[in-house]
Amino acid sequence: MRPFGLNSIHKKGGKVKKFYIAANWKMNMNRAGAKQLATEMKAGLKDGKNKYMIAPSFTLLQEVSAVLKGSNILLGAQNMGLEEKGAHTGEVSVLQLLEAGVQTVILGHSERRHIYKETDGLMNKKVKLALKHGLEVILCVGELLEEREAGHAEAVCERQIKKGLADVSVQDLVKVTIAYEPVWAIGTGKNASPEDADAIHSSIRKTLAALYGEKAAKEMIIQYGGSMKPENAAGLLKKPNIDGGLIGGAGLKTETFLPIALFSE
Ligand code: PGA
Repeated sequence: MRPFGLNSIHKKGGKVKKFYIAANWKMNMNRAGAKQLATEMKAGLKDGKNKYMIAPSFTLLQEVSAVLKGSNILLGAQNMGLEEKGAHTGEVSVLQLLEAGVQTVILGHSERRHIYKETDGLMNKKVKLALKHGLEVILCVGELLEEREAGHAEAVCERQIKKGLADVSVQDLVKVTIAYEPVWAIGTGKNASPEDADAIHSSIRKTLAALYGEKAAKEMIIQYGGSMKPENAAGLLKKPNIDGGLIGGAGLKTETFLPIALFSE
């Protein structure tokens, strides 16, 4: 059972806007540290009203899963193999993730796209495979600095969304969250200004509306990611099109994660 249901019931429309705050631990932590941090986060968020997720490394999934069981925090994976099983050395299958208790998977992270050269086509196959097996998906999109400077930020996100979500039905879309992560802002300390981020989020929503209709686009959760921290989170989250955060560095400590995760308007 998912402690929180699908995106649609977390969205605006009610009186209080529910945000989706996710910690991407990337290639950090050992077992003891992961267990401790997950335990602290579970305690700190037990009365939290937002939607939460923690994505540790594959080898830490079981440890963290045991801690998060019965909590209001989803267990996420940071990537997933392209096929269900077989000759894919170094990959982890969707079936293995499910067995480890994973409920959602981050796909298309810029570190996958740029360091490991994963393409939009590959991402699309993974998105469809994850959805076929009932996993929620966070699909990351975002432009490089040179693409922003050339005025192509919106077009890059549009392309990544169209290709990443190709053949994904509107029924399955409720299990998808988009994370806008400008590549130049990730791990650099430089966040997009709330106004700039909101403008891209708004254009992402337009792309989604063209693909899936206004209602589906309105209900879609679009997270911001890229140097989000307690000092800048409120400014970003107050913007109408920013519905949450995908948090790297600040997700590695309770002191920095909890103030963001407990944000409410
Ligand atoms: P950051 O990472 O918060 O450390 O910039 C965000 C991400 O890559 O998801």
